[in-house]
Amino acid sequence: MKDFLKMSDLSKNDIIELLDIADKLKYERKHGIEHHILKGQSLGMIFQKSSTRTRVSFETGIYQLGGQPLFLSPRDLQIGRGEPLEDTARVLSRYLDGIMIRTFAQKEVEDLAEYCSCPVINGLTDYCHPCQVMADLMTIREIKGGFDGLKMCYIGDGNNMANSLIVGGLTVGMKVSIACPNAYQPDPQVLEFTKAYGDKYHMTENILEAAADADVLFTDVWASMGQEEEAAERRKVFTGYQINDEVLSVAAKNAMVQHCLPAHRGEEITAKVFEEHADEIFEEAENRLHAQKAIMVKLMAKA
Ligand code: CP
Ligand code: NVA
Repeated sequence: MKDFLKMSDLSKNDIIELLDIADKLKYERKHGIEHHILKGQSLGMIFQKSSTRTRVSFETGIYQLGGQPLFLSPRDLQIGRGEPLEDTARVLSRYLDGIMIRTFAQKEVEDLAEYCSCPVINGLTDYCHPCQVMADLMTIREIKGGFDGLKMCYIGDGNNMANSLIVGGLTVGMKVSIACPNAYQPDPQVLEFTKAYGDKYHMTENILEAAADADVLFTDVWASMGQEEEAAERRKVFTGYQINDEVLSVAAKNAMVQHCLPAHRGEEITAKVFEEHADEIFEEAENRLHAQKAIMVKLMAKA
């Protein structure tokens, strides 16, 4: 594995191996065991969109592994003035040991990986959010003890989170059920991917049908970064696509609730459900750190 670009690049074994490394790193951090696995290495981080969790967890993560982060704002890089991506990639590869990028088009990330000789990690695109879903799977395994026989339900926009959750959930062996408006379905490539999983994948416009007996409930914002101008229209379309007490009442007993954050209380999730499941949601946020450290170790550690 040279890069970490999207969930469909990973086999079940790849995911389990990364989760095992992440669990070990989490245990060791809790027990004060320090690491120098990436001593002397530098991770460049390019952000074309805002971030709290991704930026801070990657910055602290590389530092905890003995390396250093470099925050690279496109406003300051020559890329912002038109330097071609292929030149930027070939230059940065000669200084850095890894690059994390958050941007709009998945193609930009795939192109960067092609031109970079160092590993490239996808920190979110319009298409997917694989680092988040590694943390989500880590949290599910931690709380539920495994994936076998579990049903994941996602309610809301068929966006980057939906795309990665569907692929990640099916790959590790969960059933996946999606409730979204017809005009806001997941990406066609993802729908194609689900065909190999038969009735383990289900999509509907009915949130209670999707949530029935679900062990893990996910949702995400109605308007993602870059869709600010559509926000008013989306608020109308997505009204009702919410995790609330009624949804919890049809889900499995002890169903988990997960949210990648930031959350909009009163829109995709009620304040009551959010607070009742805050421990699980903030564990999920913490697990970004451990899961991404595992990804960096796997891609960047010298044998
Ligand atoms: N969940 C997530 O990626 O958060 P940030 O946008 O704050 O990085
Ligand atoms: N779907 C959201 C996820 C944020 C972490 C977005 O792309 O803005």
